[in-house]
Amino acid sequence: MRRAIFPGSFDPLTNGHLDVIKRSLPLFDEIIIAVLNNPDKTPLFSVEERCLMIEQILCGIKNGDCRLIVDSFSGLTAHFAKAKHATAIVRGIRAVSDYEYELRMALMNRKLEPTVETVFLMAAEEYSYVSSDLMKQVFRLGGRVEGLIPELVESKMREKLK
Ligand code: PNS
Repeated sequence: MRRAIFPGSFDPLTNGHLDVIKRSLPLFDEIIIAVLNNPDKTPLFSVEERCLMIEQILCGIKNGDCRLIVDSFSGLTAHFAKAKHATAIVRGIRAVSDYEYELRMALMNRKLEPTVETVFLMAAEEYSYVSSDLMKQVFRLGGRVEGLIPELVESKMREKLK
């Protein structure tokens, strides 16, 4: 049983995240999309809203033999992975600028839980500049984000920010 977690803030889920999830499907039997509950941040969407949105979006994708689960967690990613008996943490890399931060996280997570490996997947080039923060900023200021976030996310953002 190859189980991985894909942790993140997902505030909100972007098409870049979705691309990484799709790329990880053939690699694992089960992937837990792990939404971080971070009390230090004020998110646009609550953890419950994010989980529900992700569940609805994942319903629409062909996941083959890979089981997709949406869950939330607090505390350390490495501890969550271990508690779920996952052997891998999936992270997407967009550009070289992501690498240093991701490397530090992967090494720290391996120090915390040596049995859990981080697996980096390269998101598609067309999403290389897409981040949740940028999407929120552009959307708030009236810019176009079509094709960069799922339609459901776009309509929920419209409701939130009107
Ligand atoms: O989507 P993000 O914001 O890039 O995700 C970052 C996340 C949630 C993976 C990272 O902040 C994290 O793992 N936070 C949980 C706390 C933790 O484990 N910190 C130590 C990481 S080495």
